[in-house]
Amino acid sequence: MNELIEYVRKQFPSLEMQVNGFPAAFLDGPGGYQVPHRVIAAVQNYLVNMNANCHGAYLTSQRTDEMLQSAREAFADFLNCSYEEVAFGANMTTLSFFLAQAMMREMHAGDKVLITEMDHDANRAPWLELQERGIVVENVTVDVNSCTLDMDDFKTKLTATTKVVACNYAQNAVGTISDIGQIIKLAHEAGAFTVVDAVHYAAHKPTDINAIGPDFLICSAYKFFGPHIGILYAKKDVLGKLRTMRVRSQKSYPPYMIETGTLNHEGIAGAKAAVEFVADIGSKFGNRSEIQQQVNHLHGRRRDIVAGLLLFDDYEQQLTECLINGLSEIQEITLYGPPRGHPRTSTVSFTYADHTAADVAKYLAAKGLFVWAGDFYASTLIDRLGLRDQGGLVRIGIAPYNTEDELSRVIEALKNGIILEGLKI
Ligand SMILES: Cc1ncc(COP(=O)(O)O)c(C=O)c1O
Repeated sequence: MNELIEYVRKQFPSLEMQVNGFPAAFLDGPGGYQVPHRVIAAVQNYLVNMNANCHGAYLTSQRTDEMLQSAREAFADFLNCSYEEVAFGANMTTLSFFLAQAMMREMHAGDKVLITEMDHDANRAPWLELQERGIVVENVTVDVNSCTLDMDDFKTKLTATTKVVACNYAQNAVGTISDIGQIIKLAHEAGAFTVVDAVHYAAHKPTDINAIGPDFLICSAYKFFGPHIGILYAKKDVLGKLRTMRVRSQKSYPPYMIETGTLNHEGIAGAKAAVEFVADIGSKFGNRSEIQQQVNHLHGRRRDIVAGLLLFDDYEQQLTECLINGLSEIQEITLYGPPRGHPRTSTVSFTYADHTAADVAKYLAAKGLFVWAGDFYASTLIDRLGLRDQGGLVRIGIAPYNTEDELSRVIEALKNGIILEGLKI
């Protein structure tokens, strides 16, 4: 194990867990990452030293105001935008519903929203709701052979009546990364607003709002080392023109105008610490020349965050290659995902002969190998792949604290066949 990963693993207390005498291997990153010490400490510190509502006259309330402001600044660095464009919410799904409802108020019957067959339901259902108001919702199709978005279909369906394009940056069931910069550019040329689901992507690669230029982009801190909260990037002058759902005393201007009630303060404190964790990795280990070449035009915390994510991605891509090679040798396994060479995350999914995905996950769980099975809320993609009847896919999601040894345990277990009798979970 290299020095970086040894250091990373020491930060995660949950990695000490044992299951049936096996060390627990947390291979469900796309379902939610494990949390390092500093995030746990930040949540605790908030609850002990700052616990209060906002805008009060007393110390803990003032500390809360300062913490929220500094968390917006941390996410501004994480996403490369201004803190005035960072809003917090319960999770990505809730923010997505709020946004769709606000955008609906600016649309008319006959206007079109483009969603995709590749998306998590959280970036589909909120838009499908708008059909009740006569808004037309069309699906961009997936190429089922390559698990990639059909860009020709996108270009055909993108017309002058399209008001919103809602698309993911990376697909959470099979790991495909889409050319979101190109999708946003084409959408803007057609006069449409863009809403990007970056929940899966943000954990794996640096997100650069300035470079890709979306109107809205949503991610979730629990997918990259943080607690369960959602983060919305909203372009200031676009959000500012929307009529969001809000109570009278809520600030009426960006980014606060889309936030509701009291935020999850301790969660936000932890999320800020998650960003600092990534930055700390970048600053401690980012002096490798190939990393420096990619970050030397950047400054301060943004530079460290990008370096940290690039280091993680480099390691994850190596493990992904090992995993794909190992799984490819098992006859019973069919892999699903983008073709070699296509941009992807470290999320690898498969089916196993005539066993359901749930049975495979159960078999692995008894050996301390935590993987998810099913449709991962990417329900339309799983239907289009024809995998509903066998219970969807088995998904292995590699995070920076995972090791080659953990993946070898998975491959060995699968080589031995799926034995369900006498399982102890
Ligand atoms: C790609 C993607 N989008 C959206 C979501 C929903 O996020 P949240 O749980 O924060 O609502 C998930 C969660 O798994 C996801 O993976």
